[in-house]
Amino acid sequence: MSLVPPVPELKPEWLAGEARHLAGAGGLTFYIDDDVLTYSSDGTTIEARVGEDSGETAVRLSAQAWNDLVGQMRTFVGLLLGDGLQMVRGGFEQLAPWEPALRCLHAGIPPYDPGRADFEGRDPSASFPADTDDAELADQLRVMGFLHITGVFTAAEMAAANLEVDSLASMARPGDDRSWWVTDDAGAPALCRLVYTTLRSPVLAELENDPRVRRLGTLLDPTLAVAPDRMEGSPVLIKVPGRTSGLSNLPWHQDCGTGGHAVFCPAVSVGIQLTGSSAETGNLQVVPGSHGQALRYGWQENADVPVVTIDTEPGDVTVHVQDVMHASPRPMGEGRRRTMYVTHYPAALWDHIGPGEALNDLVRNRTEEVASLQRATSPGPA
Ligand SMILES: [Fe+2]
Repeated sequence: MSLVPPVPELKPEWLAGEARHLAGAGGLTFYIDDDVLTYSSDGTTIEARVGEDSGETAVRLSAQAWNDLVGQMRTFVGLLLGDGLQMVRGGFEQLAPWEPALRCLHAGIPPYDPGRADFEGRDPSASFPADTDDAELADQLRVMGFLHITGVFTAAEMAAANLEVDSLASMARPGDDRSWWVTDDAGAPALCRLVYTTLRSPVLAELENDPRVRRLGTLLDPTLAVAPDRMEGSPVLIKVPGRTSGLSNLPWHQDCGTGGHAVFCPAVSVGIQLTGSSAETGNLQVVPGSHGQALRYGWQENADVPVVTIDTEPGDVTVHVQDVMHASPRPMGEGRRRTMYVTHYPAALWDHIGPGEALNDLVRNRTEEVASLQRATSPGPA
């Protein structure tokens, strides 16, 4: 197999934009077992030269890790977390800007550009009542990469689900492999996520299999299916108030930020809003129309990028395509937003991820270490 994969069909402007952006970056060299390869930009295009060792930035990785990177199974962050990539020259700040260009060259993934975003006359901030017809909801989700549907579940249904969450939370302990923890502003461990919840709660399992959830999770693809026993099943997020250390407040990310894009995108996550959400309790932010694309490291500094903040009531549902850029910022008040995420995956997931396995196995018990790597990427539904 050739070291450099054939370049897929691209629109010329995709690569030209990245080449301009990387013109002063000085090249990136990969040491791949006994091979060496350098990518460089001349300001108009990006070239790969096998056998050349001229990058100002350089990394070392195995042929398997290289294949995972090229095959969209691992990202730079995912490889670093799994000790699959070592920096030889430069640091992560020099490496990360190359990722959109490489994803474009290796897999034809377009780099995101707000100038190319086309909302087709739709309102990115729109919410829809639960009786909106499927075609309208599917069009909004296809264009924006996310949806907000109001009044899907009753107050009584959400109260019953919250009692189950109370029960699971009371049994959770740091290191139990069924929960995520952070350090709160008083220095104490605080629960921020329960995972594999539907394997332990029949009430939550019923919610996971509810026809209203299935309808919203399969708007774009009727073959997508839930995975209760892998990929952390259906987790419940609990927003911890105050300043926390760890991954309670997820910075901007795509859910394939550590890897797995080739296997589980475009998976669709249905977020059941158990408590509702606001700036005070913690809410969800998205870049509308960013799904299926790669956002540049540091894109937040670009004032032209649109951002939508979604506030919800208990019983509302949010839906997001997993690689839409999204974030879960720090609650400005009492926190405690609870959301149950039921993700619907393509069939390929079951060929690659076994029972009890998840991309987040690398993350669950080291959220503070992982948080230090986060800026443009991070794991898990927000
Ligand atoms: Fe997420």
